[in-house]
Amino acid sequence: MPHLAYFENDNFLRACWKKETEFTPIWLMRQAGRYLESYRKVRAKNDVLTICKTPELSAKVTVDATTELGVDAAIIFADIMLPLEGIGQSFKIVDGVGPVVEKPIGGMEEVKTIGKFSPRDHVPFVTDAIKLAIQKLDGRAPLIGFSGAPFTLASYLIEGSPSRDFTKTKRMMYAEPEAWKLLMVKLSSMVSDYLLAQIRAGVDAVQLFDSWSGCLSPSDYEEFVLPFNKQIFDRLKPSAVPRIHFGVGTAGILKAMREAGGDVFGVDWRISIDEAWSILGHVAIQGNLDPAILLGANDLVHSRSKDILARIGGRPGHIFNLGHGVLPDTPPEHVKNLVQFIHGTTKTKR
Ligand code: CP3
Repeated sequence: MPHLAYFENDNFLRACWKKETEFTPIWLMRQAGRYLESYRKVRAKNDVLTICKTPELSAKVTVDATTELGVDAAIIFADIMLPLEGIGQSFKIVDGVGPVVEKPIGGMEEVKTIGKFSPRDHVPFVTDAIKLAIQKLDGRAPLIGFSGAPFTLASYLIEGSPSRDFTKTKRMMYAEPEAWKLLMVKLSSMVSDYLLAQIRAGVDAVQLFDSWSGCLSPSDYEEFVLPFNKQIFDRLKPSAVPRIHFGVGTAGILKAMREAGGDVFGVDWRISIDEAWSILGHVAIQGNLDPAILLGANDLVHSRSKDILARIGGRPGHIFNLGHGVLPDTPPEHVKNLVQFIHGTTKTKR
């Protein structure tokens, strides 16, 4: 991994390790998305999965967004659903809906049919896209790899399509705990193999997207999710790349998420960032701006961003981000302005 030498003093990676930085680093979840003209051009001729499965296209949209926005980290263009096909779970991504699974998992019988994951056989396009993106980035920004977390992946496999209340998922947890446990064992082994393959391909950091486990009570999170996420973070620790642990609506489970592991924690906007940080303790923190704020005028974006920075108070270990992905209707100039604003204001203060 020769590119690591480029990043000895990288601001994003330094912030992940809670070291002092020259300015507050910023990147945005879904920074390569429909709000961006360069992405829409590629997307007009290809569906999302084709982009994900064609390393040249994936690397192109990854690098174009990073360069255009001037953000401090790239995230490989992929989708949390990609590794599931190889283990026997076919799905589509439906426009405006999200992932739709062909044969949702109903119970133990289907859980038993889930096969063994092989990164080389099942997701060679992801590791190839990573290698190509690193070449194209040429040291301009570190690259983040990612995976969905077992709970979030299980929720798509069980519900069959995006859900509001996760009733079927919870039914399996409560009514068929053995089936739930086996599903989580299989998914957590897949997730850590997948992330380790991305690290071998050269990513500089990894993010675990546990987007939906915030729907659980703290004690259910502890019983049904925490042990599996912990196994993943423990397996990744020796790789010594920063591990980002992200979820939505997690104010009530931050302590338990911290126990599961991670070096950086991604929080949404339903809790103030200083309060979240005091619950989390000695780790780095990322996120917090409501993505919808970017639909408002630049003045609003600036005042809300300043509030986040004031609550951080210059402490090392802060990465500016949104609390969830960039919304498709976001004006791209607002995003670029946010990046410049964060760099500008935090540079002059140090
Ligand atoms: O951040 C980035 O720039 C990397 C790209 C990325 C995608 N998916 C590409 C994509 C990332 C990080 C993901 C992760 C992902 N995918 C998550 C976890 C993050 C989160 O939002 O909580 C989830 C839950 C999914 C599943 C998924 N795939 C959803 C909900 C959707 C959106 C459906 C829609 O039409 O709104 C997808 C499709 C998808 N994956 C898009 C992108 C940019 C939508 C854009 C398009 O259709 O071109």
